[in-house]
Amino acid sequence: MPTLQTTVNGIKFPNPFVIGSGPPGTNARVICRSFADGWGASSAKTVSLDASKVINVAPRYGRLKDDTGEPYGWENIELISTMSFDQWIDEYKRVKDAYPDNVLIASIMEEFNKDAWFEIIERCEAAGVDMFECNFSCPHGLPERKMGAAMGEDPEILSEVCGWVRAATKKPVWAKMTPNVTRIEDPSRACLAAGIDGITAINTIRSVIGVDLETLRPMPTVEGYTTPGGYSCKAVKPIALRMNMEIATLIRDEFPGRTLSGLGGIETGEDAAEFFLLGADTVQVCTGVMKHGYKLVETMKEQLLAFMEKHGFETIDDFKGKALPYFTTHADLVRRQAEAKAEKAEAMAKRAAGITTDENWDGDDFVKQSDDLVG
Ligand SMILES: Cc1cc2nc3c(=O)[nH]c(=O)nc-3n(C[C@H](O)[C@H](O)[C@H](O)COP(=O)(O)O)c2cc1C
Repeated sequence: MPTLQTTVNGIKFPNPFVIGSGPPGTNARVICRSFADGWGASSAKTVSLDASKVINVAPRYGRLKDDTGEPYGWENIELISTMSFDQWIDEYKRVKDAYPDNVLIASIMEEFNKDAWFEIIERCEAAGVDMFECNFSCPHGLPERKMGAAMGEDPEILSEVCGWVRAATKKPVWAKMTPNVTRIEDPSRACLAAGIDGITAINTIRSVIGVDLETLRPMPTVEGYTTPGGYSCKAVKPIALRMNMEIATLIRDEFPGRTLSGLGGIETGEDAAEFFLLGADTVQVCTGVMKHGYKLVETMKEQLLAFMEKHGFETIDDFKGKALPYFTTHADLVRRQAEAKAEKAEAMAKRAAGITTDENWDGDDFVKQSDDLVG
């Protein structure tokens, strides 16, 4: 019987399904609900020390739907948590008291200030969180304060901040990356070289969801105006898979033993299997939970177990990264195809020549060789 239990960065996960930071992890009540419904871990909504600076607007979501009415693309201009940090400390404690065996990840974000990073980590740790995820990736609002993606786009700043974070805690830390860079390996390498345990990817892709053809204003429209937001949901999965492949390759080649938490458009157990095959250790879901609710994890677990059973895999590690060796250059694809064609032509030429000497008879192809000799 396959098992979904897995150990990542020394922490036991009841299963590899993690709630991605966002609305599905906004307070103790909903985090406890997600654990009750079967999620292995939750990356809570991102917190900072001073929530009074965080002011949300409405509307702050925009969606693209397919012909059946199901959203496949989702933009948000939502900020990090508006709940006070003191309140969050109580919420973390409540979650750990109620669900000691599930993994509670504090998603944290601060300004470029060493003392602030030390303080936020010390206080979360005292509240009993199991590990950290540094949000270096929110693409809207926070970069105006040099936070989030403003840090994640700059490997030099990341090196320094990750060095502080590493010094502040012995607990595992993941760095959550922004996809809004040309080469995701560069910021990922900076974090890993500074001693961070794993990478989470991807956060949302900077986007403009559309323009209202009646009002002629960009959406989501707030008092007639908007600001570019972050795109998530099914539509981003191929981009997330590509970036997971690139980060997993970096980890394999330069930082063996470090880990990867994959997310971006995951809604099924099969989606999750694809991320594992490209090197992820855990997977996260944010928008999928906003569409389908917390019980989605039941179906995802069944689908992933069925996939594992079909292929004879006992654990996630049995198939982690199995598809990774099959990426190569385009020139190599051309070479491989030319070689395959040449081999096929040679085999056909041999067959056309038929059995000319008794040494040519072969046990496996015996019937076929006999048929070929029929006039
Ligand atoms: C409404 C909304 C709010 C989000 N808030 C956060 C956040 O506070 N911190 C964070 O790290 N990511 C946040 N995200 C990003 C998600 O965690 C995730 O990285 C991204 O949406 C891609 O995954 P998905 O397609 O499963 O949603 C948010 C996403 C959405 C849709």
